[in-house]
Amino acid sequence: MYTMIEIFKALSDPCRLRLVTILLRGEFTVQELTEIIGTGQSRISHHLKALNEAGLLIVKRQGTWSYYRVCDNNPFFSSLREVIEPQLELLPERSSDLAAVAKALEARRRKSQEFFDLHAMQWDELSRRLLPLPHYQNRLLEAVPSGANILEIGAGTGELLLKLAYVAGKIVGVDHSPAMLDEAKRKVAAQGVDNIELRLGEMNHLPLPDSSVDCVVANMVLHHAADPFSVMTEIRRVLKGCGLLLIADLARHEREAARDQLADQWLGFEENELEGWLINAGFSKLIFDRLVGSAGQESVLIIRAK
Ligand SMILES: C[S@@+](CC[C@H](N)C(=O)[O-])C[C@H]1O[C@@H](n2cnc3c(N)ncnc32)[C@H](O)[C@@H]1O
Repeated sequence: MYTMIEIFKALSDPCRLRLVTILLRGEFTVQELTEIIGTGQSRISHHLKALNEAGLLIVKRQGTWSYYRVCDNNPFFSSLREVIEPQLELLPERSSDLAAVAKALEARRRKSQEFFDLHAMQWDELSRRLLPLPHYQNRLLEAVPSGANILEIGAGTGELLLKLAYVAGKIVGVDHSPAMLDEAKRKVAAQGVDNIELRLGEMNHLPLPDSSVDCVVANMVLHHAADPFSVMTEIRRVLKGCGLLLIADLARHEREAARDQLADQWLGFEENELEGWLINAGFSKLIFDRLVGSAGQESVLIIRAK
């Protein structure tokens, strides 16, 4: 248990208050925090250590990288947050820090977009070779309500989209890579499917009105998200009240090469982190399935959420 003195001591520094402001917004590495705050890495590491030793942070290890965020289950700090947060808004560096946070998230997003624009024509072959997975897509297709108005986010070259189109009433595929969408358009035209619409867009700013779809499918896309929680709140916005979210994504793994080979932002997810984000985004009925991969394969998490 952390004492009140340890917590107040850790907070009694202007740079640490800036770090708390930033780490209430999301998860960042030391390198990203160094750029956001605009000071040396050793100074940032020293402040993070002090905040962490007072129980104010959670450190998420992903291979050799560590992501920091503010701890949401420190009871004393949680009771202080209501008082502290309006004061954090008054920090002189606040607006420039938040602008730098947006820039760091944009850098993550751009890295993914550039990768997919560059590799769109080889993507289907590349993913088959570098991302061996257990057979799981039937689980998604079986769970989709027949005749539903579906949105697939991160639709890519349309591999799953074309299968979903057989079950859907109407389906919209959104992706932020023009080159991936061109591949999808080519396949849709070649197969003459007429209930698919493709739209260029961001998964955390979806080009759809509120409460407009029955079912959202996110297949192998969340591990590319700059900020997966903001994607879930955006999905909640476009889903009808009783709508269904279907996620298939990688379970936590240690294959660091996926960052360079496949532009993965996250090395998969723990069930409890996905659960926390979904609940905070307004989903309440959650069903998790884990398909354990055989040798050389990543395990896949399948989540149904309402
Ligand atoms: C691994 S592919 C998945 C393709 C597709 N879901 C499938 O199952 O065939 C990931 C796709 O997500 C897209 N993507 C990544 N980040 C995105 C974002 N922020 N907004 C929209 N699309 C995104 C990429 O451009 C890429 O086409």
